[in-house]
Amino acid sequence: MVQYKRYQEGKTSFLTADVELYSAEKGQPTADLPVFMNPRMQINRDLSVLFLAAYLRKENIKFICEPLAGSGVRTLRYLNEVPGSFHAVMFDTNPLAIETALMNIENLGFQERCRVIRGDARLLLLTESRGKRFDFVDIDPFGSPAQFLNAAVQSLRPKRSILAMTATDMPALCGVWPKVAMRKYGGYSIRAPFTHEIAVRLLISLAYHVSGLNDRSIEPLASLSTDHYVRIWVRVLPTKTKSNIQSKDMGFIRFCPNCIAYDILTIKDIDAHYSFTHAITDCKGPIRIAGPLWIGPIFCPDFVRDAHSLLTEDWGFHRKSGKIINAMAEEIDLMDYLYTDLHALCDTYNLVSPRKNVVMEELIRIGYKATNTHFRPTAIRTDAPVSEIIQVLKTLSGDDD
Ligand SMILES: C[S@@+](CC[C@H](N)C(=O)[O-])C[C@H]1O[C@@H](n2cnc3c(N)ncnc32)[C@H](O)[C@@H]1O
Ligand SMILES: [Zn+2]
Repeated sequence: MVQYKRYQEGKTSFLTADVELYSAEKGQPTADLPVFMNPRMQINRDLSVLFLAAYLRKENIKFICEPLAGSGVRTLRYLNEVPGSFHAVMFDTNPLAIETALMNIENLGFQERCRVIRGDARLLLLTESRGKRFDFVDIDPFGSPAQFLNAAVQSLRPKRSILAMTATDMPALCGVWPKVAMRKYGGYSIRAPFTHEIAVRLLISLAYHVSGLNDRSIEPLASLSTDHYVRIWVRVLPTKTKSNIQSKDMGFIRFCPNCIAYDILTIKDIDAHYSFTHAITDCKGPIRIAGPLWIGPIFCPDFVRDAHSLLTEDWGFHRKSGKIINAMAEEIDLMDYLYTDLHALCDTYNLVSPRKNVVMEELIRIGYKATNTHFRPTAIRTDAPVSEIIQVLKTLSGDDD
């Protein structure tokens, strides 16, 4: 007998296996819970609710699919909190997850709008979309979404649809296991102070490739990095010529761990710009190269602004969710520049870290742009080169000789 417990997220109350009870020994939820649900993923689900609501303001959605559903909380929140009359289907291989999701559907009265099917997501995505394709597929797996992506893209309505996916395999995406990143995402990851942006860009590049091999193109709508995972929302479009043109959005990010300089190169550019400009004269630091990965936009500014404007409503979200959207709404204008972690810079250059706002004000005063980023509380986005940021940090910390 599974011990159930009631949880509340946003405006949705649901039952699932008692997470605290079953994860007491390990200290955190693991895949061997009778039914998997991670309360720490509330922010992920809050933003997913908000982004689906923003998408629905301009697009029509009739049918959504969550192929890896667990307790069903994510889809139930979509049905309960996002305005609309769309229908949903959920899959899971775990019979207890199916039982739990069915119980939650009944308790919330969504029997008319939602079905649950037990089985392998890779098969069901293809078979259950044969009659009617999905307008939205949300992949939320243990670890990497890579193995589900081809079936997910093929299950989407060709004309216009949206795909969201979470990845929790951070050692691969953040440079601990670069060869695994190459195998699963088609590009090397590296250790760098902006490693979470590399992770997001590797994930988008996988969406680009798998969509491309199915003659589709993508438009990244939003990217999220928080806690122990990254997540992206991309529009999938039927235009293969756009996908051809987007080959220019694939490239490399080079980084010197000694002086913290970086640059971004398209694949075509790599020959022409073989030399690398370090942030300090005579720097002998080794160059690390991430990629090939997506170097194009990681947000659609209008989409993020639409989602941000919806925050005025009372959604009952986690307090951090609003802060994340606020920071995203700032950083969209500077997404062509990787985020810069000021603490990492100060550590490298042996400087006392000034307050982030003061650094941003000074950069703006001398003619650059600077914003917060949701990626890290200690980081900013700016069009100033790293050497210039270092100079500002030195001036502010009284070490500008
Ligand atoms: C991370 S959990 C899903 C959590 C859920 N999306 C949420 O927001 O709470 C991953 C789920 O995928 C299920 N699963 C794993 N492999 C699967 C497969 N090949 N097909 C269908 N379900 C699978 C697991 O049983 C588990 O419930
Ligand atoms: Zn260097």
